[in-house]
Amino acid sequence: MQQPAELKTALEIHLKAIADRPSWQSGLYAPMSYILGLGGKRIRPMLLLMSYQAMSGRDGTEALNCATAVEFFHNFSLIHDDIMDNAPVRRGKPTVHEKWNTNTAILSGDAMFALAYEYLIVGFEPRAAALMREFTRVSVGVCEGQMQDMEMAGQRASIPQYIEMIRKKTAMLIGGSLSIGAIAAGAQPEEVAQLYALGETAGIGFQLHDDYLDVYAPADKFGKQVGGDILENKMTFLLIRCIEKADAIQKRELDRLLYEEPSPEAKVAGVMALYEALGIKAETMAEMDRYFAAADALAADLRSRPGFGLIDDFFQSLSKRDH
Ligand code: IPE
Ligand code: IPE
Ligand code: MG
Ligand code: MG
Ligand code: MG
Repeated sequence: MQQPAELKTALEIHLKAIADRPSWQSGLYAPMSYILGLGGKRIRPMLLLMSYQAMSGRDGTEALNCATAVEFFHNFSLIHDDIMDNAPVRRGKPTVHEKWNTNTAILSGDAMFALAYEYLIVGFEPRAAALMREFTRVSVGVCEGQMQDMEMAGQRASIPQYIEMIRKKTAMLIGGSLSIGAIAAGAQPEEVAQLYALGETAGIGFQLHDDYLDVYAPADKFGKQVGGDILENKMTFLLIRCIEKADAIQKRELDRLLYEEPSPEAKVAGVMALYEALGIKAETMAEMDRYFAAADALAADLRSRPGFGLIDDFFQSLSKRDH
């Protein structure tokens, strides 16, 4: 059983060896090398490695290629997400479509997605069918969620519709990281399903937190444009609750800000003032806590497994991050 620090070091070395290949320094591969090199929290591959070792009793590093697959998929989804969200900054640096161009970002992202399938099964060929079925289910779910995210922007949405959208676009891959690690480990289907449910529930908390940080993270640490969701009229938990709670005057002001305010700074500041007046910040944190607590309750049956405590601790620290 390896500790998280050891797993993280091994993962970074593994990813760096891929990103630093001479053939990855130009053309189609340069954006992949670039985005991998920008780091990030590596939540999904770490969850996969910890799930693998909890369910197999073996070292997590045996599943490094599998972990690479989920990080590749995640990075592909970020490259395309930044095009869809008009985002200028990712992990503190220019987004791929800004640094190169949109067509390159589309193609590099596509190739990264395809390569993910290659990494997924290395070392686990006898379990390839089950791994690919789960990976495909999750990947299609993410795309469905991203579609709903775009359809909802600037429209009216309810909280249940929003939760379903983030369940797909974000939580399915968090759940999938745990289930794929468990499948590679040869876990029973019920255990795989339990791990998936736990990850998916925590993943909803994670996206609520991401929406919160999009407004309230310290700008110097966040690595993304603060206020980006407001500028794009994204239906976040914060905006939906603001619309629901606003009185007639506040609603008129919100409509003006969303659809008529030409200054980006004034738009973000104006919407933030409404959030403040309506107590949106505390409400979002409480909703996030609710999902992390529900995930914790789902973990009860798994706690007896040596190695599961690492996953528990990981979600605990994730729910407390400030950027
Ligand atoms: C960002 O994910 C996209 C979401 C699903 C919210 P992360 O916050 O895990 O991004 P990195 O990988 O750490 O940069
Ligand atoms: C993105 O959600 C989820 C993905 C599938 C990439 P966001 O659009 O909120 O992610 P960030 O904030 O850009 O990282
Ligand atoms: Mg985005
Ligand atoms: Mg997005
Ligand atoms: Mg976000």
